[in-house]
Amino acid sequence: MDKIIRGKTAKSAATGGKTAKGIKHVASPLARQTLLDGALTGPVAGNRPIPLLRWLQVVKIGGRSIMDRGHEAILPIVEEIRGLLPEHRLLILTGAGIRARHLYSVGLDLGLPVGSLAPLAASEAGQNGHILACLLAPEGVSYIDHPTIASQLAIHLAAARAVVGSAFPPYHHHEFPTSRIPSHRADTGAFLIADALGAAGLTIVEDVDGVYTTDPNGPDGKQAKLLRETSFNDLAKMKKATLPFDRTLLEVMANARHIARVQVVNGLVPGRLTSALRGQHAGSIIHTGAAKS
Ligand SMILES: Nc1ncnc2c1ncn2[C@@H]1O[C@H](COP(=O)(O)OP(=O)(O)OP(=O)(O)O)[C@@H](O)[C@H]1O
Ligand SMILES: [Mg+2]
Repeated sequence: MDKIIRGKTAKSAATGGKTAKGIKHVASPLARQTLLDGALTGPVAGNRPIPLLRWLQVVKIGGRSIMDRGHEAILPIVEEIRGLLPEHRLLILTGAGIRARHLYSVGLDLGLPVGSLAPLAASEAGQNGHILACLLAPEGVSYIDHPTIASQLAIHLAAARAVVGSAFPPYHHHEFPTSRIPSHRADTGAFLIADALGAAGLTIVEDVDGVYTTDPNGPDGKQAKLLRETSFNDLAKMKKATLPFDRTLLEVMANARHIARVQVVNGLVPGRLTSALRGQHAGSIIHTGAAKS
């Protein structure tokens, strides 16, 4: 039997469905080769996937920049989101904020591994999501967990104009041990889900007008220049500069399949989020790797 299988060309295996001594071979162009050979997998797996929810707008609300500020920042953004509901169907994802920073410091002091810290921080992002969902409940908005986002987002968005979830990706105990602080945080998670769903866009809501050359609230803040339009490549070159989002976001942007640009806007200025969702330039636009494909 071995002989027969080995004797087949990739082409004959691909036409498949033939039997050798009663064993049915499943037709698959990937069955007989290593998945590490790009020349072989490329023709099969190199195409752009279909966008599942091309009408979806994903909005990431900053944990530290918006939620931790309490009612002064949260109520106006809730009001703005309310006004957006007739126009857009939204997946609103929340970041973890200051409670996660406290949690990291306690956990690190105790020597906890990164895989234990990741789900704890994710639960803080979820708490912020629950808060936001409570305020939007009169509009039919509710909080849904990751498994529900993964398998039932479409039905939830058929019943309501928006849902809220945690922006953290569920790496949990599989978080990469490249750093003691989880490297895949809320911005990376929001991008991964938006790109996987083939959403219409991702808007990241912060407390600054966009991405600057250096932290506008840092010691060199006076020299900070707003980058109204930039790319993941250019930001990756700014190795020493801090960013208003996880650095890992730049890595996942490089391999984006659908989301060609992300806009970072100031959620403390009424109307900026609305403008961004209407396709207007209201903050910093960051072009991703999907832009060229
Ligand atoms: N290059 C930069 N451009 C703009 N802001 C920057 C830059 N570097 C650092 N920052 C700072 O990042 C702050 C936002 O912090 P951060 O991104 O941690 O908050 P957040 O997104 O609300 O948090 P979370 O990830 O918990 O949701 C801004 O207020 C700004 O001071
Ligand atoms: Mg941020």
